[in-house]
Amino acid sequence: MEQIIKKPANIIPRPNLRDYDDALETFKWESAYDQVEWFDGKLNAAYNAVDRHAKSHRRDKVALYWQGVDRNEKYTFFEMSRLSNRFANVLTDLGIEKHDRVFIFLPRVPETYISFLGILKTGAIAGTMFSAFGPEGLYDRLHNSGARYLITNSSLKERVYQIKDDLVDLERLIIVDCDDGVGVADDEVSYTEAMKNASETFDTVQMLPDDPAFMLYTSGTTGKPKGVVHRHLAIVQQHVTTKWVLDLHEDDIYWCTADPGWVTGISYGLLGPFSCGASVVVYDGRFDPEVWYSVIEKYQVNVWYSAPTAFRLLAQAPDAHKSHDLSSLRHICSVGEPLNSEIVHWGVRTFGLPIHDNFWQTETGGILIANYPSLPIKPGWMGKPIPGIKAAIVDDSGCEVARGVEGNLALVADFPSLMLTIWKNSAKYREYFSGGWYFTGDRAVQHEDGYFLFIGRADDVINTSGERVGPFEVESALIEHPAIVEAGVIGKPDALRGEIIKAFVVLAPGYEPSDELTSDVKRFVKTRLAGHAYPREFEIVDTLPKTRSGKIVRRMLRAKELGLPIGDVSTLEE
Ligand code: PRX
Repeated sequence: MEQIIKKPANIIPRPNLRDYDDALETFKWESAYDQVEWFDGKLNAAYNAVDRHAKSHRRDKVALYWQGVDRNEKYTFFEMSRLSNRFANVLTDLGIEKHDRVFIFLPRVPETYISFLGILKTGAIAGTMFSAFGPEGLYDRLHNSGARYLITNSSLKERVYQIKDDLVDLERLIIVDCDDGVGVADDEVSYTEAMKNASETFDTVQMLPDDPAFMLYTSGTTGKPKGVVHRHLAIVQQHVTTKWVLDLHEDDIYWCTADPGWVTGISYGLLGPFSCGASVVVYDGRFDPEVWYSVIEKYQVNVWYSAPTAFRLLAQAPDAHKSHDLSSLRHICSVGEPLNSEIVHWGVRTFGLPIHDNFWQTETGGILIANYPSLPIKPGWMGKPIPGIKAAIVDDSGCEVARGVEGNLALVADFPSLMLTIWKNSAKYREYFSGGWYFTGDRAVQHEDGYFLFIGRADDVINTSGERVGPFEVESALIEHPAIVEAGVIGKPDALRGEIIKAFVVLAPGYEPSDELTSDVKRFVKTRLAGHAYPREFEIVDTLPKTRSGKIVRRMLRAKELGLPIGDVSTLEE
């Protein structure tokens, strides 16, 4: 069995969660409600993230250090509070009301953070979209959510205009990078102009704990992406887990490398750390080991939250850290895909610190299982449930299995950051629950000692570089290409990216396999769906395995690819 890493006491002198076992036994979520501020049973996550600090001794503390490619900026809690107030006024003047949807399609610029907070302050629901999305990915999200306004910039807006005529609910675009309104079309709103004219005071709308705050689309096995809606109360779990798992302390400088278009970039790139009053570093630029290490050095980052693929890429540049002083680092965490034990050990060799894995999902809004500063790390294992979470391994009928036996990773659904619903699809929402459990869709094992080991997805969802991709969306995009009549898509294990997307396609009559065709199809999926969701591998086949009702059996494609047994074929087409 893997050796457990016992950390020297001086690495984390005073972890926020000192006695895990005691907290596991005694902690109740209600007891953490007073870690955020309430107004007669109501609250607002944005108020808790910035305004309460702007009124405290943290008023002039830097909340956001923003590093762009060739410039940088910083914003105090007071400035973030005032700017998000201004944006809330901009939206209110435009007629935005409680529960309306306002979406953001931007890179990691300060306006992303300011507008997200401003949206929450009005009581509207904020949605973020990764800046690599193409027109089809945007259409699915904007159409399903019925977003009324979209905040974007002058280059990304071109992709929106390719589909805007079909979006009946989308009223106007707010463009952030057009100073003094120059370059803004008549029916667009200039962010700069509107912000200049808006008041910097705003009465933040106080929301019920279960009122929706933000939504993020994520992929399942079938159908279009699902709009996962999160409530304002989730801030309680984001706050507590930021303290316990990321171990943020008052003077910490914290860098989360996740994009705000994904859940980690919101729950732990914005809400959790701001709520704890920490200074957050945001780097908006390409991945480059030298630049990443220089960000840690320049901002004296203490706590760093990233993902296995990023660590594996850094490990491929074994000398890059040597020219940087990284001694500020105190605690490193990872999420999104399995963290192989070699990378945990690489962390020890490279930074003198092990990497702490943790597990959660878009739907759970906050961390569920983790390796903690105060507990030994078990490399390769996701860790133990956070206090307040009951996690278990159950069989398909919801009965708990013995320790050491593989099964479905399930949770008791009574924690504050669990999704409120799936937007306009309560049937999909209900599918997550059975026999009193929330099913994560993941397979895992729990060891005698309580640690959980990730085995794999129970469904066909692909996890490439920590980003979740639905095979159905990729297949749908592929068959829109004139050369392709049928497509089946799987995740193929990959040493660097965890999985890569592999497509099996049947060509239309008259088309012949060629390198040009392959590159054209890749480009087609990249520009229509998203930059990260294109198949890196193609195989042209004569037919695809299907059930008698015509559904493609991806399990067989995967078995064939990996040389595994094909399993039960009784329901397949002749
Ligand atoms: O399969 C699990 C994997 O990522 C899925 C959730 O993806 P997403 O909703 O995009 O959220 C990612 C960031 C929270 C899970 O169902 N996953 C997440 N963390 C881990 C993981 N797989 C293995 N180990 C992890 N630590």
